[in-house]
Amino acid sequence: MIVLDKTNKVFTLHTQNTTYQMKADQYNVLLHTYYGPRISGGDLSYLIQYADRGASPNPSEAGHRRDYSLDTLPQEYSTCGVGDFRLPSIEFEPEDGSCLADLRYVDYELRKGKYSLEGLPAFWGGSEWETLVLRMEDISTQMQVELYYGVLDRYDLITRAVRVTNLGTERVRLRRCASLCLDFQDNGDYDFITFDGCHALERNLNRAPLRPGVQSVESVRGTSSHHHNPFVILCDHSAGEDHGLCYGAALVYSGNFLAAVERTQLEHNRLLLGINPYHFCWTLAPGESFTSPEAALVCSPSGFGQMSRQFHRAIRDNLIHDPLRGRRRPVLINNWEATEFTFSAEKLVDIAASAAPLGIELFVMDDGWFGKRDDDCGGLGDWYVNEEKLPGGLEALVPRIRALGMQFGIWIEPEMISEDSDLYRAHPDWALGAPGRPRTRGRSQLTLDFSRKEVRDRVYADIRKVLDSAEISYVKWDMNRSLTDVWSAALPASRQGEVFHRYILGVYELLDQMRRDYPHILIEGCTGGGGRFDAGMLYYTPQIWCSDNTDAVDRLRIQYGTSFCYPISTMGAHASAVPNGQTGRSVSMETRGVVAMTGTFGYEMDLNETSQEEKEVIKRQVAFFKEHYDLIQNGDYYRLTDPFQNGPFTAWEQVSPDRREALVSLVTGTVHASAPFHTLRLKGLDPALTYQVNGGDTYPGDVLMNAGWPLPIILDDYQPMQLYLSAVQ
Ligand code: GLA
Repeated sequence: MIVLDKTNKVFTLHTQNTTYQMKADQYNVLLHTYYGPRISGGDLSYLIQYADRGASPNPSEAGHRRDYSLDTLPQEYSTCGVGDFRLPSIEFEPEDGSCLADLRYVDYELRKGKYSLEGLPAFWGGSEWETLVLRMEDISTQMQVELYYGVLDRYDLITRAVRVTNLGTERVRLRRCASLCLDFQDNGDYDFITFDGCHALERNLNRAPLRPGVQSVESVRGTSSHHHNPFVILCDHSAGEDHGLCYGAALVYSGNFLAAVERTQLEHNRLLLGINPYHFCWTLAPGESFTSPEAALVCSPSGFGQMSRQFHRAIRDNLIHDPLRGRRRPVLINNWEATEFTFSAEKLVDIAASAAPLGIELFVMDDGWFGKRDDDCGGLGDWYVNEEKLPGGLEALVPRIRALGMQFGIWIEPEMISEDSDLYRAHPDWALGAPGRPRTRGRSQLTLDFSRKEVRDRVYADIRKVLDSAEISYVKWDMNRSLTDVWSAALPASRQGEVFHRYILGVYELLDQMRRDYPHILIEGCTGGGGRFDAGMLYYTPQIWCSDNTDAVDRLRIQYGTSFCYPISTMGAHASAVPNGQTGRSVSMETRGVVAMTGTFGYEMDLNETSQEEKEVIKRQVAFFKEHYDLIQNGDYYRLTDPFQNGPFTAWEQVSPDRREALVSLVTGTVHASAPFHTLRLKGLDPALTYQVNGGDTYPGDVLMNAGWPLPIILDDYQPMQLYLSAVQ
């Protein structure tokens, strides 16, 4: 609900459990007055205190009033060069070369429904949303800044985006345009939580108290990256899973980003989230606009668990475009880890044939089926079937797979080009790269200049021929390197600062096109595993390959970190052969299955090489997953332990929305002799209901949540356990 106090220019956004407020003051400076647990309202500007602070200057309208400074007041969208020395939200440069932005509130607009952002992913939905637009302007340059707010009451979700329009008469260069600025003026003793890592070990949770100055994570790789995720949390020092105030902020964007927090001289905190200003410069001719990506905020007064569940619901219901919405997604088998580039049609059919009797429903043919692609040095860009491997093309292969009762899926990497490809020989200038400089290879490949429409069109035309040649139900859209040599032959020198962003806009445009042209195809995102696991990609690809690391033990951490923002139904997870290729570790098929089914669930191995006993295990896992699909994929998710604590076990739980069913899963850590007994307290159950556990004895919900469940002593490392609970009355 949005409440306006027009006289005092106070704008209050209420969600079910939170309240957010701004106010334009007597100088039309837009102040941020509150964000936190839901309150009744009123004008919260009484919280703001004024004092003369040395070295903090005063705007001219304030005259000699030295207690009024932009440097100390909580700003809704911070400016630069005119008195606020903290992190700026915006920087622009008119032709005189100045870099001054003095934004003042002009007017507002209230709309039913959700705003949309042309060419950019954004949360969507109907009348359950409300939109507020606040217009501000820098009088000298006539740069207009519109702040967009979307309010989704039931999920405590507030989205923000910014549109900058040049209303003046000369060209302006926009050098920075954050999606979100959030000032906290309550001296909160906050921690900053980020999700960091590297290829094959993504989204490790890192938590540190704020210290004076700026602390940040960012990506300048052209992707949101394996290294830092564009989702961060600010929280009370004492906040935990089930208690304490926390604020989660996700950027709905897949390119370079910056997430920064500044702890100021007055021990206030400012959070900034948006496109990274590194090599960003967007020229706005008179009348032109630039739209920032969207940022999404959830505040939880009761810990991380509630924050995550609200993000999960909102992402599932109001962000992803799932062609199978309301239906079960197929359990898949992928040939990558089994064959890499070396396979024949017979081999693929063999793998599929070994999977079909176990209940596996989709066969995915990974990298290596096209062009001259026998290793990772060639072929990218040549999107036609390699008939030496697959005689007769997909027209011959796909019916054989379908005859097994399975769907067929295919791997592509549209953004890439190999130097050893027909496409490169014909169009060497289509790869990103500055004239006269050698090009930097990544995984032995170059990147296509996706900021150019003719490049995207050509690649898509070739891919369409493949998609049209057979019955294809699934596409894995991969992207296997960070961007370098970011320079486009299609833009003048003055506009090279637009290439990073234009590249990702090009990716979005093509994904959107494919989604619309093939509305029945499920697209899985992938970037060398989880290098672009972000809310932007999820808009187009309802699931994303979480990591190239399929080791079940490492996955406990990767999937735990991922779950802080992103739902289980988005996390690509497969059980693979052991010893694991990334870690050399061997764990049981039971453990691999329990971990992988806390994701989209599939297998990535040649089941012909699997023992009969393991096949029986797989058959049971697949049947169990299908039976409890809704609970596992769409249930409310509870983290019961933190795998980074190296405790005796890692446990998590899904609870159905009506709380009549729950699934508890657990994997032990490394065992020690004379182990103590442990009791696991469950969460999210209905205290008044009685639950039957694994078809056996019954226990009241309040007992299971407070007294808990005694865990047996399990010998051997990394053993799994699952408890299925169903209400009996
Ligand atoms: C990336 C993906 C893998 C696989 C390979 C194929 O690494 O993450 O799953 O598709 O590419 O080259």
